[in-house]
Parts: sequence; C-alpha cells; structure tokens
Amino acid sequence: MSRYIADMLLTREEMTYDFQGAKLVPGQDKEILEWVFNQFLYGEITGIQVGHWLYEAPDFAAAKFLARQSIEEMQHVENFLRIMSMLGLETKPAHPVIRFLATGMMGGSWAEHVALEMAAGEGFVLMAFYAVIDTLDHQPSVDILRRAVKQEERHVEFGEQQTMRAIAGKPWLRRRLVGLTLVSMWGVARLAAFMGSRLPKDHPVLSNLSPFLALTNRCAEMRMLRMGLIDRPLAEMSRARKAMLVAEAYGGKFLGGLGSLLTAPLRLLPLGMGKKRLTDMYLSDPDIRRTMTLGDGSPASSGRSAE
Ligand SMILES: [Fe+2]
Ligand SMILES: [Fe+2]
Repeated sequence: MSRYIADMLLTREEMTYDFQGAKLVPGQDKEILEWVFNQFLYGEITGIQVGHWLYEAPDFAAAKFLARQSIEEMQHVENFLRIMSMLGLETKPAHPVIRFLATGMMGGSWAEHVALEMAAGEGFVLMAFYAVIDTLDHQPSVDILRRAVKQEERHVEFGEQQTMRAIAGKPWLRRRLVGLTLVSMWGVARLAAFMGSRLPKDHPVLSNLSPFLALTNRCAEMRMLRMGLIDRPLAEMSRARKAMLVAEAYGGKFLGGLGSLLTAPLRLLPLGMGKKRLTDMYLSDPDIRRTMTLGDGSPASSGRSAE
C-alpha cells in the first residue's frame, strides 16, 4: 500500500487532555463505560459508509486506502464488541446527537467526506479514543484500543491531506466546508451540554468532560487553520459571518432554526434515505448478538485487528 501521507497535522500531545491520572474503573463505572462504548460502537458501524466513498474515489491510491479502511472499521466493530463483552457491558442504541454527527452529517461530496467525516469527525473520535486509553483501568481493553488508534490516525491523516488537495484554488468550497464544520462543532457543544446535564459531576474523569470537549473543538479549529480552511481563529470571526457561512453551506434549508437539525437528517444522499441499513439494525444483527453473548471476550467471527 502506498504511504500517502507524512504525518497528521496535530500531534498526540496536542490532542491529549490531561486527566491527571483519573480513571474509569470497570464494575464501578459500568454505566458510564456502557454509554461511552455504545457511542463508539455506533461510530464504527457507520464505517459501512466507506463503501459509498470507495465508489467515488478520485484515484487508485485513494481507492486502495478506502478498501483497507473499510476492513479496519469492521474490525473496530469487533474490537468494541470484544471490549464490551470483557467489561460486561450491554449493547444499546447510540445517542441521537451521535447518530446525527455520524450519519446525518454524511457528506454530499468527496470534499465534504474527507473534510467533515475524516479530518474533523475521525479527528474527534481519535481524541475520544486517546481519552479512553488514558483513563480506562483495564489493560486488555487499552491494548486493543492502542492498536485501533494507529489506524484511526491514518484515517485522519488521509482526511487532512485530501481536504487540502480538494480546496486548493477553490475559495467557495473552502467557505462551504467551514460552514458545515461549524455545524458539527455545534453538535459537539450540544453533546457536551447533554453530557454535562446527565452524567455525574463528582466523578474524577467526568468532571473533566466539558474542558475535554472544549479541547476537541480547539483541536478541530487548529486543524482547520493548518489545512488552510480558515486563515484566522474562529473567535476573530463575527457571529453574523459564521451564521452566513452555515446558511450558505446549507443553501438556506435550515433557516427555521438549528434545532431542527436533531430531528431531520442534514443532507439527504439520494441512495441513503428510506432504506434500512446496518446502522439501523446492528443491535439485532445475529453475528453481533452472538459475539456479545459469548461472554468470553472472543469475537464470534475470525477477523482480527490488523496490527
Ligand atoms: Fe474506526
Ligand atoms: Fe476510522
């Protein structure tokens, strides 16, 4: 496989939140871990969307990358099932904001896919992986996550490089991608508000959640700057300008208010809507159910994470 890329635009250090040694302890923190891993599980299931982008790949190297990515994402599904089974967690539906960010935000073009889902979206997931690696007090799970994280890093790198290529000489596309990214950052802020209101505040890890999510948004902004999507920090951009970029990006579709974003899928891919997909049915999928009921931590199928 050709090595597309040099390095991610942000370092592990920049993307690391210092939880000061606070830990998530299996058993004790079962409810929290169950919530967190169910969001991850859904995110990995949305890896089926890679198939759509493989068909849209602009060149052979990109096609090879995506073919490999699709395998990696399905292996991540198995990784998470394995971790959940080891920790005695049940599979449950993901939060609507997560479903919106991972499925409702599905890109309408190659540029949107690489900028929003890969650079920004997988960038966000990567930081959440780092946070779990740094806090989860369960070595076998952390070992599995460490292997998966290397692959997620490559997905982010690819997204960054492809975004930079796509926007070269296209200021209109840059504006559109910024508008769309602002909405996903708003989604993360909503997620932070939800988690802040629902999760216990006196927990040593969770009490850090809101500064952690603030860091994820700062990193998203740093990445936008380094990719050349924006040329100044978002704080220097007026509210009116941001609102205009969002409105422009959505073609005035959502002037009725951003609140509707949670109930309506954002942009409707002609082939994506109305049809039940694995993202709707995975919780009752026989293979997934079997993996969870094995209870011995071994995945039902023979797939193993590529190291
Ligand atoms: Fe993944
Ligand atoms: Fe990924």
